[in-house]
Amino acid sequence: MPHPQTMHYVQASGPGAPDVLTLDTGPVPEPKADEVLIRVQAAGINRPDVLQRQGSYPPPPGASPILGLEVAGEVVEVGPQAMPWKIGDKVCALANGGGYAEYCAVAAAQCLPWPKGYDAIQAGAVPETAFTVWANLFQAGRLAKTETVLIHGGTSGIGVTAIQLAHEFGARVFATAGSAAKCEACLRLGADVAINYRTQDFAGEVKSLTSGKGVDVILDMVGAPYATRNVRSLGMDGRLVIIAFLEGSKAAEFDFLPVMLRRLTITGSTMRPRTTVQKGAIAADLRAKVWPILDAGRCPPVIHATFPLAQAAEAHRLMEAGTHIGKIVLTVG
Ligand SMILES: NC(=O)c1ccc[n+]([C@@H]2O[C@H](COP(=O)([O-])OP(=O)(O)OC[C@H]3O[C@@H](n4cnc5c(N)ncnc54)[C@H](OP(=O)(O)O)[C@@H]3O)[C@@H](O)[C@H]2O)c1
Repeated sequence: MPHPQTMHYVQASGPGAPDVLTLDTGPVPEPKADEVLIRVQAAGINRPDVLQRQGSYPPPPGASPILGLEVAGEVVEVGPQAMPWKIGDKVCALANGGGYAEYCAVAAAQCLPWPKGYDAIQAGAVPETAFTVWANLFQAGRLAKTETVLIHGGTSGIGVTAIQLAHEFGARVFATAGSAAKCEACLRLGADVAINYRTQDFAGEVKSLTSGKGVDVILDMVGAPYATRNVRSLGMDGRLVIIAFLEGSKAAEFDFLPVMLRRLTITGSTMRPRTTVQKGAIAADLRAKVWPILDAGRCPPVIHATFPLAQAAEAHRLMEAGTHIGKIVLTVG
């Protein structure tokens, strides 16, 4: 499909406040042999984009320096090894970067079809949280039906998907959030228990609501200040999966004894530096196990707000204010 040689994209003029994000013009990326070129219609915003803008999360080698880790749109060019996609396909994709733009080149293996009935905004809000939650809660965390899970940051983009999928797959779900309204949202999304961490001690609540047993899995994004309380909240053979350190990674005091006594696993991961093969394997798992759920209209994305591409700075300000529930998405074109 013919496409222009230049495009609009969001340029970050340097590390700093949201104001560094402005609309600029640059070349349309050339897809590599295993990539497709997507005409972007929507690009999800994720907290790691904020960190990249601030200068503390540089793109991995080879990735586009343009912000943006997920897009939805239409395939306009297909590399010779970018099977099975064809021109005109509506795909959503986990990008290694480059999402805040009119065109984005993404490995074919990291693309999935728009779930049935979704529009571009909904499709563009799915990949980053779906890949991250699947890899961490279900693969690394091995969350199983009938188990109990504690999800911190329950109304974050990640938290919403984690609550929905954990509930969908039959787990008992505890979630934490920072206000009464956010706690109510967690319950509406499928959490069995929502704990306002500003007014309640989550570890005490978990202990009492599990009759002292603790939960099987914790998905954490807060880090050091939660380390001891997370470990206290895990039951026998429990798994703590850490995906971010919003409040820091260095705990001054941490007692490892419970790790041994209760056979705990502490693990964590980042999504972006994984190889195309690894991301493709997660995509294949999502297609088989999660897409049928989305196609059936269950676990729909929660869109908090949308902004045109030119207002990416405004979208970042909203994310940093932290009042959102679910996803913030840029509309393109
Ligand atoms: N490891 C990975 O592969 C991976 C991939 C994607 C995202 N992540 C991480 O996962 C986390 C969630 O991402 P997201 O895009 O879903 O973010 P998001 O929607 O902006 O959500 C972040 C939420 O965390 C809570 N929070 C707790 N302490 C906070 C603090 N000190 N600063 C800011 N927020 C705080 C806030 O809710 P309350 O009001 O309830 O506190 C906030 O809404 C981020 O830390 C992100 O970096 C990791």
